[in-house]
Amino acid sequence: MFLFQLPDDVLYLILSYLDYKSLCRLSQVCRRSHHFTVRDPVWRRIAKDFINTGVTRHGADLYPTIPLKDRVKVSQNWSHGVCRKDVLLKWKINLLPWIQLDGDVLYLSQASDIGAYHLRGPEGVKFQHNRVAMFSGHQEDVCRFALTDIHLVSAGSDGKIIVYDRKSDFCMEYFGHNQEVNCIDCKGHLIISGSRDKTAKIWALTPNHFGKCLHTIPTYDRVWSVAISPSLCTFVTGTACCENFAPLRIWDTERCHLVSCLGTEFRRGAGVLDIVYESPFQLLTCGYDTFIRYWDLRVCSRKCVMEWEEPHDSALYCIKTDENHMIASGSSYYGVVRLWDKRQTRCLQMFQLTSTTSSPVYSLCFNATHLYAAVASALYSLDFRTSGHRPRR
Ligand SMILES: *[C@@H]1O[C@H](CO)[C@@H](O)[C@H](O)[C@H]1NC(C)=O
Ligand SMILES: *[C@@H]1O[C@H](CO)[C@@H](O)[C@H](O)[C@H]1NC(C)=O
Repeated sequence: MFLFQLPDDVLYLILSYLDYKSLCRLSQVCRRSHHFTVRDPVWRRIAKDFINTGVTRHGADLYPTIPLKDRVKVSQNWSHGVCRKDVLLKWKINLLPWIQLDGDVLYLSQASDIGAYHLRGPEGVKFQHNRVAMFSGHQEDVCRFALTDIHLVSAGSDGKIIVYDRKSDFCMEYFGHNQEVNCIDCKGHLIISGSRDKTAKIWALTPNHFGKCLHTIPTYDRVWSVAISPSLCTFVTGTACCENFAPLRIWDTERCHLVSCLGTEFRRGAGVLDIVYESPFQLLTCGYDTFIRYWDLRVCSRKCVMEWEEPHDSALYCIKTDENHMIASGSSYYGVVRLWDKRQTRCLQMFQLTSTTSSPVYSLCFNATHLYAAVASALYSLDFRTSGHRPRR
């Protein structure tokens, strides 16, 4: 084949215009064709078009160590809902667990503690025995927590915020809220917390100012969710919508004034439970009004640019995005996890985690091959990868 005598970069460019099926067929023609068609440059365009391949809308690669071709293949399983469900952990009482994934370590809050579990422990070892760290100190339940490279910052029903050093035993308590701290976010040197006491607070996360509350913003409504913009200049609060205030408000982190309100019509009780930024201008929100909404602040703050409705009319407790086409959401009944492709109005896939008991999906997270979801009394994993052999549990 003369094609393969072309210079590599020219060849990659030509091959990158083939579609998924043609590339797969070509790779089976001969050893040489296989050699060239497994390379990442050939797959980049397709990977950007498929869901959850780890290639973001801006072209960044979240999992550079795994060949793109493999990720495009696994992506088909996400699209078709092909996966294996496992219960990683069960507990006896109903809790409001929150989870976060950091590489191979999953952080899980259970009642007043947060455990860090290694997900790739030795073969045959039960999940709970792979705990590598434990963070304690709250007198009541942990509501939410956030991770940075160095810290774990938790918000508790006891009104406290605790900043833990992830690598050592050092931790520091922040006091200031009068009631439950429902939500927290942490980026750069800023912590933002939101509470039932109808305030949001800005705290410093720099060694000289540990524990210092920089500002208190009265929100006149209970705060259920907060998120700091990647630009660090603003943050958004999601409130209960029980008073006459817009449930989504953007604030300036320096001067603390109200920058804008998102949306114009609010149903009473349409509280916002989760907010995720995709860029300094784009964010996703969800909550009691059963919609996922996509806002683009460059276009308009009065109206969202897209919205997706939970088909069973359930509240949505949590959302995550692959920073490209896919959104995963957790519903309030029967542990329903949904996958959405932003290019479609209808839900792409749904997975019901609990059949006998009804529980919200309080929290979820995923990488290119696995999705983890926490309900009131269990932690589940969905594995979309090559089936391989099943680890014993
Ligand atoms: C996702 O996480 C699981 C568990 O840590 C790991 O085995 C898998 O390799 C990860 N996948 C990617 C694409 O990073
Ligand atoms: C997709 O899922 C099926 C069933 O679990 C599995 O056999 C297959 O290997 C998966 N594909 C990839 C690329 O992991």
